Amino acid sequence: MPGDLQQLVDQARHIVFFGGAGVSTESGIPDFRSVDGLYHQQYDYPPEVILSHSFFIRHTEEFFRFYRAKMLCPDAQPNAAHNKLAEMEKKGKLSAVVTQNIDGLHQAAGSRHVCELHGSVKRNHCIRCGRFYSEDFVRNSTSVPHCTCGGIVKPDVVLYEESLDEEVISDAVREISRADLLIVGGTSLSVYPAAGFLDLYRGNELVLINKTETPKDHMATLIIRQSIGHVLGQLHI
Ligand code: OAD
Repeated sequence: MPGDLQQLVDQARHIVFFGGAGVSTESGIPDFRSVDGLYHQQYDYPPEVILSHSFFIRHTEEFFRFYRAKMLCPDAQPNAAHNKLAEMEKKGKLSAVVTQNIDGLHQAAGSRHVCELHGSVKRNHCIRCGRFYSEDFVRNSTSVPHCTCGGIVKPDVVLYEESLDEEVISDAVREISRADLLIVGGTSLSVYPAAGFLDLYRGNELVLINKTETPKDHMATLIIRQSIGHVLGQLHI
């Protein structure tokens, strides 16, 4: 593990972690843009189209077929990256995790302050009456999940063409702009507005742990091209 990272972590007091799908690949959930990722598999429509608001409205049944098969991973467990970040928060080193992931694995590992920019599969609401439904309800439903009132139950996941939750944005902005060390990892940094949040960081050191190049590599003062579970797992907190 690069000693430079350990040193930066030792010196910092308000670490914020910003991550994406690559954080969960070691838990067995494929990411989107790697060669074995979701966007390289063949479907009747591209996943970006299926995961859009207009597709949800027009082809609701098809949306849920894809969603249940590809977005829900009920057996996935947190990996060394999730666990270390939770430990860092517990020990008062890390202020927040800002994630584009919807899998809930940071919370499963024990992280408390998690800004879920793209929502979560763990929460689902009726679009008519607002009633809450669990992930299991949606997973066990056939065809389109319906509320007792007859409305469609929609996952609290931010689809393409939808905007991010304002409170989540404010929280993430506050945390990133206050951080004295930003660790970014497991994200291609290609989806906006999420990737633009990095520009709010005002600290001197930005660590990027990603297996492949990203458009924001120039912002990093330390780049580590290894698997994130392996790298974070070795940190001493
Ligand atoms: P991507 O699939 O675009 O990027 C994942 C990145 O993680 C890639 O650059 C991989 O090289 C890297 N990676 C994979 N496994 C890794 C590991 N074990 N260690 C280190 N790096 C690893 O996923 P995101 O950037 O999260 O949005 O994608 C952003 C958004 O695009 C998602 O939230 C989703 C998707 O469309 C919505 O659905 C709204």
